[in-house]
Amino acid sequence: VSAGRTVRVGRGSHRYAVRIGPAALAELPDVLAQLGLDGHRAAIVTDRTVERLHGSRLRAVLGGAAEVSLFSVPPGEREKTRRRWEEITDGLLAAGFGRDTVVMAFGGGVVGDLAGFVAATYLRGVPVVQLPTTLLAMVDASVGGKTGVDTPAGKNLVGAFHPPRAVLADLELLRTLPARELRGGLAEAVKHGALADAPYLRRIGRAADALLRAETRPVSWLVARSVRIKARVVGRDPLERSERALLNFGHTLAHALEAESGFTMAHGEAVSVGMVAAARIGEALGVTRPGVAGEIAAALARLALPTRFPEGSDAAALLARAALDKKGREGRPRFVLLRDLGEPHVVGGDFTHEVEPAVVRAVVEGMTG
Ligand SMILES: NC(=O)c1ccc[n+]([C@@H]2O[C@H](COP(=O)([O-])OP(=O)(O)OC[C@H]3O[C@@H](n4cnc5c(N)ncnc54)[C@H](O)[C@@H]3O)[C@@H](O)[C@H]2O)c1
Ligand SMILES: [Zn+2]
Repeated sequence: VSAGRTVRVGRGSHRYAVRIGPAALAELPDVLAQLGLDGHRAAIVTDRTVERLHGSRLRAVLGGAAEVSLFSVPPGEREKTRRRWEEITDGLLAAGFGRDTVVMAFGGGVVGDLAGFVAATYLRGVPVVQLPTTLLAMVDASVGGKTGVDTPAGKNLVGAFHPPRAVLADLELLRTLPARELRGGLAEAVKHGALADAPYLRRIGRAADALLRAETRPVSWLVARSVRIKARVVGRDPLERSERALLNFGHTLAHALEAESGFTMAHGEAVSVGMVAAARIGEALGVTRPGVAGEIAAALARLALPTRFPEGSDAAALLARAALDKKGREGRPRFVLLRDLGEPHVVGGDFTHEVEPAVVRAVVEGMTG
């Protein structure tokens, strides 16, 4: 008996199921058959860490059912490049993969974005199935159809929208995930609660200890709830023209902080601090109900995530970077702001808001050390 659940995402021909459970991977053959992809040649894209830990499990699940090739890249954000895209694409071409190809993205968000971009472009597009192996990829990256690679000019600047045909989030895979990576996924789940679902945020805080132990029940519930929230936002704005920008809550200062730390600070940690800062900025502007920043910070602290800028942070440098963020115009940083927990501040169709640099600076300085 499978203890799994299914969340349906997308619309029309872009509808797909996200299966979540302790043995979701075992459902892969059935899922492929239902999609009419069971006779296809499978191209598994993964990274070497995931291959070492879980590669044999995926191969066992696929059995002799389909012809399978494996493309494995070294782990890490640095590998999300056009060069890896080219290598994998050339590998597929050399092996004679045709239109009857199904790409399987077996890894974290890096593999998901890279494999998704390979699938989006190979022979002008072949199906991709997302098999996320990190909590961040389960709650965020595997859903919504954004794919792409990084360039020296910045992250995610070359890519395509290419929704998966299915997503299988197998919670057993999280047993090997380092604690820091787990917390990164939890930070994005807190983001979903803060933006769209106050009871969810509070429940994450209460379940913090079980979540940090990656217990199946609470994690299954968390992935399902986050996927629903992300799917709802993405469903209303699939190509990120407007509302989807809400999912950048906390990310304006997070991107600045990540860059300023020389990327020693993890993305999830930076998002954690960035969300508290965005809530404080909203409170300072009189937009956000007082107390919201405190509630967000309390949930994050229970998850052992940071809620203050590291000692010695340079507010002016962070501000300069935040203003350069792709959301910024005319040197002023733009922020997603909340009115209350679960309730974003939206004015006349604007989902992000320019904020006076002095306000940002005062909040950053008040939250440093
Ligand atoms: N497409 C989107 O909508 C979207 C959304 C959010 C983030 N992203 C992208 O996702 C990426 C970050 O994803 P991530 O945090 O999953 O990083 P990641 O893919 O680099 O994985 C983090 C680390 O965990 C390892 N790992 C993966 N699964 C494991 C497991 N089960 N056990 C042990 N180790 C495991 C990986 O080898 C890697 O070293 C970024 O590139 C970001 O831009 C995309
Ligand atoms: Zn993020």
